[in-house]
Parts: sequence; structure tokens; C-alpha cells
Amino acid sequence: MLKEPLESALNDQINAELRAEYLYLSMAAYFEDEGLPGFASWMRAQADEEHSHAMRIYDYVLDRDGRVRLDGIDAPQTEWETPQAAFEDAYDHEVKVSGLIDDLVALAREENDNATENMLQWFVAEQVEEEATAQAIIDKLRHVGDDGPGLLMIDQELGERGEASGSGGDEAAMQPE
Ligand SMILES: [Fe+2]
Ligand SMILES: [Fe+2]
Repeated sequence: MLKEPLESALNDQINAELRAEYLYLSMAAYFEDEGLPGFASWMRAQADEEHSHAMRIYDYVLDRDGRVRLDGIDAPQTEWETPQAAFEDAYDHEVKVSGLIDDLVALAREENDNATENMLQWFVAEQVEEEATAQAIIDKLRHVGDDGPGLLMIDQELGERGEASGSGGDEAAMQPE
């Protein structure tokens, strides 16, 4: 049985993961509009992953005989100045999510809920990957700057993630899991 403060915090985290899914779908639409299909498919795969994160917690709450309560999701940003600006926002979002996961771990410890803490450790490791992946792409974009051919090369590289994985599978380019 899940204690109330944790049930409520886990529901908040489901919302945060769905918000991330929404943000990345919005970034995918932006990249499509920019004529960068590789970036777009990478973001779609990323959105699928965020959905699976939400469902991982959703299922966990149910397993613990808790109640899932879905909340509203604010409209995401739709435009970015540059691909790099979009990835910087993605990185900032991941850092925020890492902080939320750390807060959840602290709460699980406070409530002496070992099962929840154990479940959350998967997310702790995942967030390290998520931050590192976003940072690696930002670094590449920085090197390329305004160079069109360079940007298209990154687009092709990121597109391989979508091709190899269909929707959010595991073995592909610049892929956070
Ligand atoms: Fe996530
Ligand atoms: Fe993420």
C-alpha cells in the first residue's frame, strides 16, 4: 500500500513525464517545419520514451494499490530560434526532471518506502543518460554553428535513431537508454 504523500508525488511525476512527452512532440513538429526530419524523428522517439516513463510509474502506482489521477498538461512552446536552442531547452527540462526524481527518492526514504526507492533508482540512472545525451547533441550543434551541411549531417545521424528503433526502441544513434 502506497502512503498518501508518495502517491500524490508519484502522480505529479506521471504528469511531469507526460509534459516531457508533449514538449518533445512539439519540438518534433518544429523540426519537421524546419525541414530537419532526422531531428524530428529523434524527438518523436524521445517523446515515446517519455510516454513509457509515465506508464512505468502509472503501472507502479497500480501495483502498489494506489490511485492514478491524471492532471492537465499546459500547452508546450511551439517555436525555437535554432535547433541548438531547442536542445538547450530539452537539456534544461531533463535537469529539472532529475531534480524531481531526487526529491522523490528523498521522500521515499523519509517514508521508509524501500520498494518505491528501488523503483526510482531506474529513473536515477536514466536521467544521467538523458542529460548526457542532450548535452552531447548540444556540443555537436555548437561545433557546427551556422554551417548548413554540418547541420544536415547531424540530422542524418539523429534520423538513424528513428529508423533503427521504429518508435522508441533501443539500439540506435544518440539514444539515451
Ligand atoms: Fe522521463
Ligand atoms: Fe527525459
